[in-house]
Amino acid sequence: MDIAPDPVAGTSDRTGPRTRDRTAAEILSWTCSVVGPPLRETVRRMTPSMARIVSYHFGWQDERGRPCAEPAGKVVRPALVLLSAQAVGGDAADAVAAAVAVELVHNFSLLHDDVIDRDRTRRGRPAAWTVFGVPDAILAGDAMLAAAHGVLAGARAPAPAAGTWLAESVVRMCEGQSADVAFEGRGQVELVECLGMADAKTGTLLATACRLGGLLGGGEGEQLGRLERFGRALGLAFQLTDDVLGIWGRPDATGKPLMSDLVAGKKSLPVVAALCSSAPAGRELAAFYQRRATARPDAADLGRMARLVEEAGGRAWAELAARTAARDAVGCLEGLRSPAARELAVLAEFVTGRDH
Ligand code: IPE
Ligand code: IPE
Ligand code: MG
Ligand code: MG
Repeated sequence: MDIAPDPVAGTSDRTGPRTRDRTAAEILSWTCSVVGPPLRETVRRMTPSMARIVSYHFGWQDERGRPCAEPAGKVVRPALVLLSAQAVGGDAADAVAAAVAVELVHNFSLLHDDVIDRDRTRRGRPAAWTVFGVPDAILAGDAMLAAAHGVLAGARAPAPAAGTWLAESVVRMCEGQSADVAFEGRGQVELVECLGMADAKTGTLLATACRLGGLLGGGEGEQLGRLERFGRALGLAFQLTDDVLGIWGRPDATGKPLMSDLVAGKKSLPVVAALCSSAPAGRELAAFYQRRATARPDAADLGRMARLVEEAGGRAWAELAARTAARDAVGCLEGLRSPAARELAVLAEFVTGRDH
């Protein structure tokens, strides 16, 4: 499979040194140009009814199946796959199938996640389940998961371990999603449990993206271990940032409803940090969380809850923990000396500084 030219002037993906490291926006735009066509081709091969829902979710079609170009996601995970392949001295083209597979798995998880979380908006548009109904949204998610495994099995240089790693990571992600839901109904959740949940639901797929890329790029034991640890730490930074944006972000940038974690009684990372603090604000927040079992918080309650999380130190803790996790991630790349390894570090910086 041919891959798109590198956007940095005068170089291509395969030849010649880059004149400079790319920005995160350039890396993600390049990833889109590499992964977009095979991703669309994979979806086109699905049955029409499944392809319609998936194409809507990806922003390629509107509710009525007419072509459109709505936001399709940041493609962070496929970028990690491609750069990881290059970081071990391999060719990004050999990792395209894995990048497509990982993006399909991620999007399967989002379709199901919006059903699980009862969230009605995704990427600034009505979530697929609100348009096509819960049963078809679940089934379209299942179809994406199956397609992901199909793509990996049909890769031009299939690596038997790749399918096993992807399957294992999906099982672990499900475990994390299950814990996320279980925590909604629990009075007390320890920070260490919440970190474990975030690692399982988000860290696992980022770790797998990096490890798969490294494998398909021809990497070996120690290199794959470094890449996996990088992805895992980055996943934690990613979820910490996501949780902060869920309370203090701009919905027009995130494309997701603000405060929905607080409405649902989610024990997100900044919330648990606040609830576990000894500050009076943490105790007041706990009382809100107890009350919401019987009465849905109104806008004033939600504003107060957000302020309490902040006063109890939950926001500052989460922001610092995200920066620390991103720095730890970059530390794992030591020993991988290549432009691609430096670009993985550029993505780590992007993950904590993003507004969407
Ligand atoms: C959202 O992931 C789900 C989490 C793991 C927090 P992204 O923020 O990467 O979603 P898209 O693909 O860019 O929309
Ligand atoms: C992230 O879920 C993890 C997965 C989807 C597997 P969240 O519920 O935290 O993510 P958003 O904020 O809805 O994207
Ligand atoms: Mg969600
Ligand atoms: Mg969720």
